[in-house]
Amino acid sequence: MKSYSLRSPAKINLYLEIVGDRPDGFHELATIFQSIDLADIVHVRSGLQGVIRVECEAAGVPNDPTNLAYRAAALMSERFPEAFAKFGGVDIEIDKRIPVAAGLAGGSGNGAAVLVGLDLAWGLGLTQGELQDLAAELGSDVPFCVCGGTVLATGRGEVLDPLAGVDQVWLVLAKYRSLGVSTPWAYKTYRSQFGADYARTSEALAARHSAARSGPMVRSLQSLAAGDRSALPNLRSLLRNDLERVVLPEHPQIAHLREVLDGLAPLGAMMSGSGPSVFALAESEAQATEIQAAARSTLPDPDLEFWVTKFNAAGIRPVEASQPIA
Ligand code: C5P
Repeated sequence: MKSYSLRSPAKINLYLEIVGDRPDGFHELATIFQSIDLADIVHVRSGLQGVIRVECEAAGVPNDPTNLAYRAAALMSERFPEAFAKFGGVDIEIDKRIPVAAGLAGGSGNGAAVLVGLDLAWGLGLTQGELQDLAAELGSDVPFCVCGGTVLATGRGEVLDPLAGVDQVWLVLAKYRSLGVSTPWAYKTYRSQFGADYARTSEALAARHSAARSGPMVRSLQSLAAGDRSALPNLRSLLRNDLERVVLPEHPQIAHLREVLDGLAPLGAMMSGSGPSVFALAESEAQATEIQAAARSTLPDPDLEFWVTKFNAAGIRPVEASQPIA
């Protein structure tokens, strides 16, 4: 079996609207995912016959069957037992650069990379749709990670409506190393506080989905993708993340970080997913670097980490031999 090394990019949510409850206990969402340059590298190789092994040296990443990369390989071995037997076991090594448990879908991306890597290594020739169906069995944002770019997602987050990819926008990401937010807690708390506003009928759900689809955030992103930079300042007022309503009051440290970044970034700042990472948008790398330096001097806490990175229009991609890994 050929070995593959794949870039598994992080994502942010530029828009996250909680629309309602679902019979499966999850929430019905309208969200806009955006891939960014910050990426892990996932190596997929053949291993000991019948054995799946995951290795990652980063703290907080389990090297066991709870790792989404392991679960992705186990799912592929169940669905394609002949390929699993023919090519031996699966050895997965993850070079972690994306902060763990940050609301950036790092683990989901690693799972997506293993699906794509094994499809290539085992010569299965799965379609994008087939890969996304497998991905949905692993987690709500794994299908997006397979696809990447700029995507409006509904359902649990697994019904994808790809938009034209946006890539000339920079961002500063910030995260307190020692802070974690439980995603199930965030959604459960949101339901208990704001569940009364949920869309209750299929008509109401459809109306909210279609409002997001034809809404000003999608229109501004489409203008940006077409090269119209005059749409950039719109982003500030269009960023939305409903989960901030429960996470920020519970974690004043995240609320303060968001306030500092929002005060420094002309294009605005927001928490990504269920947090705790916060991003600030910038129109150039120089502006992002200035925002980072100013935030660092306002908040000199060594527990706070920063990254300057950029939107990326691609999802999981094999690393070319000539391509520098960054
Ligand atoms: O699918 P994933 O494992 O990423 O979801 C983590 C948790 O987030 C779920 O167990 C659920 O509590 C919550 N969630 C939700 N509605 C979604 C996505 C996630 O309630 N659409």
